[in-house]
Amino acid sequence: MLVEKNVPLQDCNTFHIVAKAHTLVRVGSEGDLLALIGDPELAALPKFVLGGGSNIVLTGDVKPLVLKVEVMGKQLLRENAKGWVVEAGAGESWHGLVAWTLDQGYPGLENLAMIPGTVGAAPVQNIGAYGVELQDRFESLDAVDLQTGRRMTLDAAQCRFGYRDSVFKQSPDDGPGLRDRVLITRVRFFLPKPWKPVLGYAELDRRMAQSGLDKPCARSIFDGVCAIRSAKLPDPAVLGNAGSFFKNPTVTLEQCADIIQREPRIVHYRMADGAVKLAAGWLIEACGWKGKSVGNAAVYERQALVLVNRGQATGGEVMTLARAIQTSVYERFGILLEPEPVVV
Ligand code: EPU
Repeated sequence: MLVEKNVPLQDCNTFHIVAKAHTLVRVGSEGDLLALIGDPELAALPKFVLGGGSNIVLTGDVKPLVLKVEVMGKQLLRENAKGWVVEAGAGESWHGLVAWTLDQGYPGLENLAMIPGTVGAAPVQNIGAYGVELQDRFESLDAVDLQTGRRMTLDAAQCRFGYRDSVFKQSPDDGPGLRDRVLITRVRFFLPKPWKPVLGYAELDRRMAQSGLDKPCARSIFDGVCAIRSAKLPDPAVLGNAGSFFKNPTVTLEQCADIIQREPRIVHYRMADGAVKLAAGWLIEACGWKGKSVGNAAVYERQALVLVNRGQATGGEVMTLARAIQTSVYERFGILLEPEPVVV
């Protein structure tokens, strides 16, 4: 086990914010983790688990011990008439896994193509796009308790998935939350047979119709999703960002009717449970934020839900911009936007 000191984290977070880890340990296996927990000095330190850094805002150097997850490997565990079960190490690239499953002939993750980050981070915020959420393809995961070293396997119910939420984001102070308590080592996915395309997201349907195929295959959906994302979302390798910065808020039908009276053009969707989801990007754009900046932190011109780093933005600048957006959306619409990334 190699303990590194003063490690630059600029390339370990997709916002490319400059910050350092005071102490960092790379976790390549459960064995590494157990060795760390067995070391009295390291075991006593507060810990921060770092995956692909695609959903964090670093507001300074990280004082807790940074555990950089590098557990690798992808394999088909079993296949039967109902589907395929695929397992991947938490350190694998999420998009790499999606592409690999398609190459191997195990379709089902194609709507989730091109989401930045690692496999281990995917369940933490229950990633979702174009009508599919991670929980729809989830089988189980393995994790290790960072205090006791106890290994555990959690099923979907135990992960308590919600919209961009899970038990891994919830605080232990408010119930069964596991935030900062465990490190996810491996995730298993269930990809059902027969494969069926998930369409119904207007932009994807339009693109599929343009492609001229009567029946889209998993590969054509993958290509369509990649094309839509490339056109609308900045590539973190080129322009630092953490994807959608705010969650799309939900309101009751009555609240929505009240807002529509004042703002007839507001973009909204009815959900299965009767509540209404509002497009946060629309709310932010309506408040005039597209393209605006605070220092080097800016609102992306092509998608107002994404904040970007135009140069050497600090986490403080990103959060000042985020708070200014929250205030103006609240003042105009009475809705408090909730940030999606974890602020460190
Ligand atoms: N819109 C605007 N202005 C904007 C942005 C959006 O008016 O600047 C309106 C448009 O009318 C558009 C609607 O908002 O039709 C929805 O926009 P979009 O289809 O781009 O989706 P989104 O709600 O902005 C969500 C997810 C994305 C995911 C897409 C596709 C959240 C917070 N974001 O974005 O996830 O890729 O749907 O399913 O739920 C992420 O979480 O990092 C992420 C990128």
